[in-house]
Amino acid sequence: MKKMIVTGGAGFIGSNFVHYVANNYPSIEIVVLDKLTYAGNKKNLFGLPEDKVKLVVGDIIDRELVEKLVSEADVVVHYAAESHNDNSLKDPYPFVQTNLIGTYTLIEACRKYKVRYHHVSTDEVYGDLPLRENLPEKGEGIGEKFTDKTPYNPSSPYSSTKAGSDLLVKAWVRSFGLKATISNCSNNYGPYQHIEKFIPRQITNILAGNRPKLYGEGKNVRDWIHTDDHSSAVWEIVNNGVIGETYLIGAEGEQNNKYVLEKILMLMGQPQDAYDTVKDREGHDLRYAIDASKLKKELNWTPKHVDFDKGLQETIEWYTKNQDWWKDDKELVERTYAEQDQ
Ligand code: NAD
Ligand code: DAU
Repeated sequence: MKKMIVTGGAGFIGSNFVHYVANNYPSIEIVVLDKLTYAGNKKNLFGLPEDKVKLVVGDIIDRELVEKLVSEADVVVHYAAESHNDNSLKDPYPFVQTNLIGTYTLIEACRKYKVRYHHVSTDEVYGDLPLRENLPEKGEGIGEKFTDKTPYNPSSPYSSTKAGSDLLVKAWVRSFGLKATISNCSNNYGPYQHIEKFIPRQITNILAGNRPKLYGEGKNVRDWIHTDDHSSAVWEIVNNGVIGETYLIGAEGEQNNKYVLEKILMLMGQPQDAYDTVKDREGHDLRYAIDASKLKKELNWTPKHVDFDKGLQETIEWYTKNQDWWKDDKELVERTYAEQDQ
């Protein structure tokens, strides 16, 4: 592999992957194709060698641009997306454009130029699972976690457009022989995550002197994974994954939102009840949980950041030290949430 396109490589998870590849495989040329929406940030790519990593500011729905870049590459790793559920409930249009038409544009170009394609997707395509306390009596593990056999059942405009994009990829593999793999990962956390998302929103609320905001009762469960572990998993799949296969990525990090918020408050020296409960998200998925055994068994992948408290502490330290990275966005993010009573 000589030249790799990383779409959305200036966003949270995409930029982590770009750093991962540049640090570990410095001979690979990386072209980051990113529109630099509100979620993209050139600063996420600082420190990378300019002769090896090139940022092209552009839209993945721009067919001419995509075809030109793809025709010169060996592999496309597709991260670019509209990624926030709350935004998708306010205005689904950019989600349909980027997540569906954007993916279509990329896979058509990969089909034309016979380029290897990896599709980065989410566990949310499977809908949600019952909370553990509501599970019927049954054997441990049965139907309790998502696998690559779980039927698609997305809930929000975000997750339905991600599900649609996965289905496009699957159809292109079967009908056109597209050389593609898909990964569906659970909730990522770590540095450089946009402050609209749960963990950085609460950390930066505390740093900015605002009270953290918990949706509903905070019983909803997310399966947290450090973004470094997501990157190492995607690298394994791109290199050793079987064409046409789907791999679920997760690190057994299930926690409910109330627990995570109270942990952040504790680590930041605040009273455990120093937060507000606010309006719940419409259609709010109850629980996600990943069974990553296929990835572990077949590709020998293991997550390294399994100590959630340590990862959270390091993430808090990063947002504390890098206030210039997020401060300018904070007021607008909070005003937008306040308009929704959140
Ligand atoms: P993000 O919102 O932080 O970054 C998205 C990036 O895509 C930004 O840099 C943005 O500028 C770029 N982008 C958006 N529209 C574009 C377009 N039309 N053309 C080119 N670039 C465009 O998102 P993230 O959290 O880093 O997520 C990255 C990918 O990983 C997404 O596909 C998401 O569905 C998937 N994913 C995210 C998580 C998570 O927990 N955040 C978990 C599993 C999967
Ligand atoms: O599961 C993978 C998905 O994880 C990705 O596909 C998405 O791109 C990513 O945004 C994330 O989706 P969630 O909706 O789970 O993440 P979010 O950070 O928005 O919210 C996490 C949980 O916290 C969710 O149950 C809603 C709740 N929440 C969120 C915010 C922003 C709060 O209680 N308060 C908040 O202020």
